[in-house]
Amino acid sequence: VPAHVAIIMDGNGRWAKEKGMERYEGHRKGVESVRTILKAANRKGVGYLTLYVFSTENWGRPKEEVDMLMELLCRSIRNEMAELKAEGVRVRITGDKVNMPAEVREHIEIIEKETAGCSNINLQLALNYSSRSEIIRAVRLLAEDVVAGTLSTDNIDAETFNTRLY
Ligand code: IPE
Ligand code: MG
Repeated sequence: VPAHVAIIMDGNGRWAKEKGMERYEGHRKGVESVRTILKAANRKGVGYLTLYVFSTENWGRPKEEVDMLMELLCRSIRNEMAELKAEGVRVRITGDKVNMPAEVREHIEIIEKETAGCSNINLQLALNYSSRSEIIRAVRLLAEDVVAGTLSTDNIDAETFNTRLY
């Protein structure tokens, strides 16, 4: 059993189009797929399930679709909270939380707090995530410590770098 499974969510729109449905129906179906995958991963004993849910680039989609996706995310968090806790799913978000709509940030904070004690499986949602932004942020944090004199450049290695990642 793999320790960590990562999935890039894609094809919601194409799935809906094939069935003669609207894109949002595909996104709703995507939530159902998440439920199925999460249950299976939990049952099999996968330690970490990472889902790439929404990239930084996805903000460039039509406003109605972005709004729909954010609403779907918040609604799913509200609807699934009790079951996630019951099944021991610890939810954490990886991505730029600072530049997210306030409502989404509030929902994320709640689900992270509510499931903090769960330990069966870790569900990581990559939200407003970009690997480039993550690396740049880490570099900036390291540079700040060097400027402040609390970190020497000689001590920058993989481990110190790791501690600055999301
Ligand atoms: C994945 O499905 C969902 C998100 C990225 C939010 P898409 O919306 O990318 O669906 P396709 O690729 O257009 O079919
Ligand atoms: Mg796509």
